[in-house]
Amino acid sequence: IPVSAFDLVLFGATGDLARRKIWPGLFHRFVAGQFDESSRILGVSRSDLDRETFQARVAKAIEDPTADKAQVAKFLELVDYISIDATGERGWEALANAMRPDTVRAFYLSVAPNFFGPIARRLERNGIATPDSRIVVEKPFGHDLESAKVLNAELRECFQEHQIYRIDHYLGKETVQNLMALRFANSLFEPLWNSSQIDHVQITVAESLSVEGRGEYYDHSGAMRDMVQNHLMQLLCLTAMEPPSKFTPNAVRNEKLKVIEALEPVPMQDIARGQYRAFGEQGSYLDHSSNPNSTTESFIAMKVEVANWRWAGTPFYLRTGKCLRDRVSEIAVYFRNPPHMIFPGTETPQGNVLVIRLQPDEGMTLHTTIKDPGPGGMRLTEASLDMTFADSLKDAEKPQDAYERLIMDVIRGDQTLFMRGDEVESAWAWADPIIQGWTESGAKPQQYDVGSAGPEDALLLMHKDGRRWRPIG
Ligand code: BG6
Repeated sequence: IPVSAFDLVLFGATGDLARRKIWPGLFHRFVAGQFDESSRILGVSRSDLDRETFQARVAKAIEDPTADKAQVAKFLELVDYISIDATGERGWEALANAMRPDTVRAFYLSVAPNFFGPIARRLERNGIATPDSRIVVEKPFGHDLESAKVLNAELRECFQEHQIYRIDHYLGKETVQNLMALRFANSLFEPLWNSSQIDHVQITVAESLSVEGRGEYYDHSGAMRDMVQNHLMQLLCLTAMEPPSKFTPNAVRNEKLKVIEALEPVPMQDIARGQYRAFGEQGSYLDHSSNPNSTTESFIAMKVEVANWRWAGTPFYLRTGKCLRDRVSEIAVYFRNPPHMIFPGTETPQGNVLVIRLQPDEGMTLHTTIKDPGPGGMRLTEASLDMTFADSLKDAEKPQDAYERLIMDVIRGDQTLFMRGDEVESAWAWADPIIQGWTESGAKPQQYDVGSAGPEDALLLMHKDGRRWRPIG
């Protein structure tokens, strides 16, 4: 569905995220015919570049052997560049003059959080931001509750909450949205979606890549701030939330917030923290870090309790890490075993597990128990109902990258898949004591081999509850 004509101003237009995600995403939406022809994208950064040089950089970012050259040329016609000093006065007047009336204005801040306030103030002071403009900010949204509050206050000085789009790109992933469709557009699962029927839930975001190249940022962040406080928290919220009464931004976000507010503090014994050590050719975390004595975690596993009527007694196990065996992101919902087995001599195989795969091979699998075929008596085995989206939806449009979807939502003015300020603060309020606990105790993460499934403590965390992680890869 085409969106209205817009002026998108991209701060940090020459940065890494812009090159990898934002420019290709915009180009794909343009090719898909979603842009009004009169839309424009203004790249902004500090560098002194002319339009042609900048366009050449954008052309490189969207380079793709399958791209139609005429389309690339047409897209580049929409692209212009302004050099601005984000914390000074240079360039703002030029930006003010470039903006058009009666066109949707979106300011995308793909820059470090310490620039959010200064840019927002200058947009307001120079009359560039209108009451209908949108401002988009990237993660990290602060590094603790205090800093998130400061960022929220700075943004709200110049913009209202309905204008602020805090990105968590996990919310733009097709399967994550599908989780809501699965739960709230089908009658099959929702009656079972509670602690009487569900034994536990495992949420895994395993990565095989290291932190190489991002050591400086990552060392101040670690897996807790980089992944758990935001991405895994969002997956937990969508899995655990009550059905919103309607699919509107605030109805959905109110329900997500209630989940975060219902989280119990996590005791230290319910957390496993790891740091990868060299294995084979791959260097260790400390080789990639700027601090040779770093105690930053590159892996985390924890047991989280959602203290409300629906979930009391059903733990959520979260796990994420770098340099693991494989790249797998999934939500696995383990249903309780049948209360009584009528087949004598048969052990119950793995019970029903619904696996919602985010990547790779987006899709869903429902593990079920069937009779082992053949004359061997009433022996049971496992079979699965499998739906890989790529196969099931052959004729459908290829799933968009998360950023494509989210940027178009900004232009449409739909905040459903963006985090509200109170949600982010609440997630920090939950995460802060955990991080403080490590700082105060000086706890060191346990080492795990590159290419493994994480540290031993993560296995023990499950083992002591009589459960097992799903294998990674
Ligand atoms: C980012 C983190 O937000 O998400 C990275 O900063 C991480 O460390 C990335 O690798 C994972 O995103 P995706 O979409 O590749 O799973």
